Amino acid sequence: MLNPKHGIFPSRKVQNAVADLTTTFVGLNLRSPVIIGACPVSRRVESIQAAEEAGAGAIVIYSLFQEQIELETKEVDEALAVGSESYPEALTYFPKLEHAGPREHVMWVEKTRKCVKFPLIGSLNAYSVGSWVHYAKQLESAGCDALELNLYAVQTDPQKTASVVEQEALDVIASVKDAVSIPVAVKLSPFYTALANFASRVVEAGADGLVLFNRFYQPVIDVQTESLSVTINYSTPEEQRLPMRWIAILSAQLDVDFCASTGVHSGEDAAAYILAGAKAVQTASHVLKNGVQAIGRINSELSEWMDSKGYSCVKDFQGKLNSRSVSDPFVFERAHYINALLS
Ligand SMILES: Cc1cc2nc3c(=O)[nH]c(=O)nc-3n(C[C@H](O)[C@H](O)[C@H](O)COP(=O)(O)O)c2cc1C
Repeated sequence: MLNPKHGIFPSRKVQNAVADLTTTFVGLNLRSPVIIGACPVSRRVESIQAAEEAGAGAIVIYSLFQEQIELETKEVDEALAVGSESYPEALTYFPKLEHAGPREHVMWVEKTRKCVKFPLIGSLNAYSVGSWVHYAKQLESAGCDALELNLYAVQTDPQKTASVVEQEALDVIASVKDAVSIPVAVKLSPFYTALANFASRVVEAGADGLVLFNRFYQPVIDVQTESLSVTINYSTPEEQRLPMRWIAILSAQLDVDFCASTGVHSGEDAAAYILAGAKAVQTASHVLKNGVQAIGRINSELSEWMDSKGYSCVKDFQGKLNSRSVSDPFVFERAHYINALLS
């Protein structure tokens, strides 16, 4: 499916490269599989323009949080400015400056839309169905080409069962799909007891794509001051292993697009995820550390790797090492764990 408004790029090659990096994700045409994940890069129009110029396939705009919308509904927007303690995790993500509320967020997307041509993916961080579904439609009207739903929530209620938690998430997905006509990707956490089953129900609920995985920020205890702090630490390439395994397993079973998130710091990292079955990859830590120009380097490295392997396009190697394609699918499962421990 082609998005009629945006994201239609001719099949062109990244500068100085022979290989064709174009790909698709949830029906969007991307000139590169490397997407900038939801993070503060998307808080400045200049950075978004620079990301487009650097060759990013698309950008996910930082999330609009359910808590922001609920706070607005209760007319306590000021609570954000003074630092509500109810949602410390979410607050670390909040833009502190001029566009803190949901309406400002939508206006911000509208403004951004006018400045760039590559696909914009709006992000909603929601864990239960609510008035924020209205904002899914608003983000669509503002010019988002797709939505990414981040289902992150820390489930601390001992009375709440896994099936209730999962059903809430599925209801969120179904309600957003009902509300919008643009594609909807779901950014999952790895922390489900039966991830394969839940992922398949997410697809049944209407998800057009799965983004594996969200990465969490856990509070740290400073033993000197004996206090808690929430610090954001950047990912390392080693953290790819968990999403890689699951992309390899799930992409062999589910008829949906996969996008990798976590630990993409080089063209080889992107190549590895695509070999596992991803159609696109997201990077946040690397561009936060090195600037959006780093996207150009990742593209060149990916392209050079493809040239060295004789791959002329992404499809040539996408999914080549998923669990259906490898000769020993158990490498992703328990048998090799036992082998590794015993050797
Ligand atoms: C500073 C920062 C802010 C982030 N904000 C969001 C956000 O608003 N919404 C979201 O879904 N993920 C957010 N993330 C998570 C990233 O999109 C990504 O999933 C995660 O960092 C793993 O990718 P990486 O290894 O490339 O960093 C944020 C990450 C960082 C480092």
